[in-house]
Parts: sequence; C-alpha cells; structure tokens
Amino acid sequence: MLKTKIAVMVSGGGTNLQALIDAQEKGLLKSGEIVLVVSGNETAHALERAKKHGIPSVVVSKKICGSQTEFETKIQSALKEHGIQLIILAGFMSILSPDFVSKWPKRIINIHPSLIPSFCGKGFYGLRVHETALRYGVKVTGATVHFVNEIPDGGEIILQKSVPVYKNDTPEKLQRRVMERAEWMILPRAAELISRKIMKEGADYGL
Ligand code: GAR
Repeated sequence: MLKTKIAVMVSGGGTNLQALIDAQEKGLLKSGEIVLVVSGNETAHALERAKKHGIPSVVVSKKICGSQTEFETKIQSALKEHGIQLIILAGFMSILSPDFVSKWPKRIINIHPSLIPSFCGKGFYGLRVHETALRYGVKVTGATVHFVNEIPDGGEIILQKSVPVYKNDTPEKLQRRVMERAEWMILPRAAELISRKIMKEGADYGL
C-alpha cells in the first residue's frame, strides 16, 4: 500500500518537525511519509532540519505575497505538485482562511501547546499560551493535536497529553516541558493514526 504523502508546515525552530522526522526514521511513523516542508518564513531553522534529512522545502512568505489569496494559491500549488494528502501544522504561525481549510476536510492537523479548550483560539500561540496559563495559575497544562476547521483551534480533538505546572515555572521552562513530555510524543502518534486511516481509505477506494 502506498504511504500517505505528508506536508509539514512550519514557521520557526521546527522541533515538532524534528520529532516527526525522528519518528519516521525510527519506523514509528510508517503509514505516512514527509515529502514536503512548507515554511512561512525564510529564516526558519526548520528549513535546515528539512535540508539535513533530504526533504524538499518551499518558502511561502505572507509578507512577500500581495494578499491572502496569493499566499494560499502558492501553498496550494506546492501541495498539489507534491501530491500531498495530509497537512501537518507544526508551529505554522500564519492563519489559513476558511476557504483554504474547507478544501482539506479532516486532512489538516495541528499541534497546540495547551489542553484545548483552555488557552486556545485567536491570539494564542507559542509562548503566549504558557504565559497565560501561568498567570491563570493552572496546575496542569499539556498539548493537543486536533483537526483544523474554520474555527481557530476548534476542530475535533485527536490526542491530548497533560503535563504538570511547577511553582517556579517561567513561560520558557513550561514551554520546554510541554514540548518534551507532550508535543513531541503526541504529534508523531497522531500523524501515524491519521496517515494509516488515509492510506486505508485510499486502498478501499482503489485510488
Ligand atoms: C510549538 O510549541 C507549537 O505547539 C506551537 O508553536 C511551537 C512551535 O515550535 N504552536 C502554536 O502555538 C499554534 N497555535 P517548533 O517550531 O519548535 O515546533
């Protein structure tokens, strides 16, 4: 059976991309293959990671594109060119329009650094999520992998994992713990689950 073709979309350090690459190399991600990395930012360290592992990448910068439509058209054509079946948002910091998202029902998944429905939605990304969680005084936080729909962080939840919050945490310390103990574990697991499902559907429909 043919593996599900995956595009990973990134904007920054790419530690979640690295977790996916490691899972693929260890055989934990076996039903899907990362065939493209799309970066919203030309200076993203994630691009170095892709290069090191021989994965083709493309930079589509919102700043350079004149409009959201142009930005998304460029992304869509790169996805089409590589025959992508599953999109994984791994720290991709640009918003995708409802029009884009509606073209990929249950084919886009996202990793979010909190236990949805806490600390999610518009404006909640990266360190801000952990700053807010600490300000609120929660004792437990975590990460969520969910399907992407037209509501920011509102799609069906696939996997979640909790992580304790400690007394002397800073946003940076908490971010690192959430990554190490939750994100880098559940994202590859979800990638395998959904890739396997798509691979089987493809087989069922004789694609
Ligand atoms: C990760 O913590 C990811 O959960 C978060 O950005 C970071 C990217 O790190 N994503 C969001 O906040 C999306 N709302 P990485 O580039 O090292 O994977």
